[in-house]
Amino acid sequence: MNFTFTEEQLLIQKLMREFCAKEIAPGAAERDEKADFSSAYEIMMKKMAPLGLMSLWFPKEYGGLGLDYVTFALAGFELNKVEVGFGTAYSVQMTLGSYPLYAYGTEEQKQKWFVPLAKGEKLASFGLTEPNAGSDAAMQETTAVLDGDSYVLNGSKIYITNAGYSDIYTVFAMTDKSKGVKGISAFIVEKDTPGFVIGPESRKMGIRASTQRELYFENCRIPEGNLLGKEGEGFKIAMSALDLGRVGVAAQGVGVAMGALEAAVKYSKERVQFGKPISSQQAVAFMIADMACKVETARLLVLEAAWLGSQGLPYTKESAMAKLVASDTAMEVTTNAVQIFGGAGYLKDHPLERMMRDAKILQIYEGTNQIQRLVISGAILR
Ligand code: CAA
Repeated sequence: MNFTFTEEQLLIQKLMREFCAKEIAPGAAERDEKADFSSAYEIMMKKMAPLGLMSLWFPKEYGGLGLDYVTFALAGFELNKVEVGFGTAYSVQMTLGSYPLYAYGTEEQKQKWFVPLAKGEKLASFGLTEPNAGSDAAMQETTAVLDGDSYVLNGSKIYITNAGYSDIYTVFAMTDKSKGVKGISAFIVEKDTPGFVIGPESRKMGIRASTQRELYFENCRIPEGNLLGKEGEGFKIAMSALDLGRVGVAAQGVGVAMGALEAAVKYSKERVQFGKPISSQQAVAFMIADMACKVETARLLVLEAAWLGSQGLPYTKESAMAKLVASDTAMEVTTNAVQIFGGAGYLKDHPLERMMRDAKILQIYEGTNQIQRLVISGAILR
């Protein structure tokens, strides 16, 4: 067993850390205040992508860097220490947006749609969730009907990250309701396709620098060649994309928890009460010890899941465990960090207030933590 990172992994970690300090941290509070994704988008596409930070695990033959999911997780830790909203847009692009094309696209589909993602030239979204198909993702009401040499899509999606900015959308739709979960198929829908309408921005408690919108399909006609995988493979495509997506969310959780812990440690050494730094009060010191243990546990789970996935080994259970533990850790550690700061942590002036709001979504999206327990117990008890 080897707990050391490769030179390349450390190099990317350092590059992301320095990039975040210079380019992302300065605008994070303003993006949150204004619920502004446009400036994050500009930074991502014009500054981050040219450094290769949007291409980490994508194979070299498609224009990526050919690194692994561990490197992606390390980059995610750094980014989410600084800004979880930005981290959401990044994680969705690097996992749910790109993985379906990579894993299920034909060579022709990959050349057309995956190469621009691997090179960091375009964004992609993942359209699974619907008003009546959240945790129960199999209850898809969007339909796709083959008509001549095209499919006609009707229905809607909600909470779609990067929508409006993405060029490519993987959309799940029912092609044969009688087959239930085996009647769901996946399609690539390009922006500006007639009948494909993007709804207004959702107003949110946190991750306000990312954008989530509704998608509507009104007799939206797409070529038959936009079917991803085979008819009926859609649910498998969605679930396997979520295996990687949950590693991304887990890395977000570890990152924001690391950031909150660092801030709490620094403040506790500086803040003097009862004649000494609060860090030397056992009540605070023990809180910090517990926070550090949880962050480390979550970090190791994320790295394990990322490593398993990179080896091509099964990692559904481990990615669900990582997502569950890391997001609960994020919520607990950010809350306790605010507690250590006291009133100062509750003010908008400090990033901790934003970090605590941002952490909440990590327990909800890409499968609520109740769903993660279903996945984990299902894997153990089957
Ligand atoms: N990989 C490949 N195939 C998988 C799989 C995986 N990880 N998980 C399940 N499958 C397959 C199963 O093998 C099964 O096929 P077979 O019968 O051939 O074996 C089929 O899918 C159905 O599996 P289940 O019976 O387990 O399915 P289910 O209906 O009971 O649902 C669930 C399982 C875990 C509850 C699932 O519905 C789920 O994960 N729900 C949560 C959905 C979710 O995470 N949504 C988030 C959307 S993205 C988002 O949050 C937005 C964003 O932008 C951030």
